[in-house]
Amino acid sequence: MNDIYRDPGTLEVLLSAEQIQARVAELGTEISEHYQGQELYVVGILKGAFVFAADLLRQLRIPCQVHFIEASSYGQGKESSGVVTMRHKLEVQGKHVLLVEDIYDTGNTLLQVMNDLQQQQPASLEACALLNKDIPEKQNISLKFQGFEIPPRFVVGYGLDYAEYYRELPCIACLD
Ligand code: XMP
Ligand code: MG
Repeated sequence: MNDIYRDPGTLEVLLSAEQIQARVAELGTEISEHYQGQELYVVGILKGAFVFAADLLRQLRIPCQVHFIEASSYGQGKESSGVVTMRHKLEVQGKHVLLVEDIYDTGNTLLQVMNDLQQQQPASLEACALLNKDIPEKQNISLKFQGFEIPPRFVVGYGLDYAEYYRELPCIACLD
């Protein structure tokens, strides 16, 4: 075994799988009500949001498409590098776009993805993050939907990684 991976059973659980599933179901209802009568264009931000996006999608009760873009600001470390790299070929003009993100930390990622997509003039552009990390210095983003506010800890699981590990955990656990 490598030096990075620790037995997940030894990690402090911040949010259990049951807590996450219950909140994701509520978010699905909130989002479906908000977009009632409209078609939704869901955009998941890879890789971290792939688990959340898959679960959230199955709680929606409106017509929707799902697409993904790749964006990353962390590299291999535990601190956001601030430099966001992004890759996509989305065409969102006139669409109701909902960005789905694993965590709103500094907000650099969401800000840059939103600025980029806004240039195409979508009908509306909102963001949904499962986690909102309580740190003092954040980009000011109007997050329409959020799962949980969490303390400023480095967390893994439910799609979130440390050096690509731990994405498979059904809970959110602290790694610091
Ligand atoms: P920013 O700072 O741009 O960060 O809002 C958003 C992206 O950084 C990753 N991130 C984390 N990944 N544990 C992780 O595994 C964390 O505590 C954490 N905080 C931020 C995440 O990929 C997100 O898309
Ligand atoms: Mg990540």
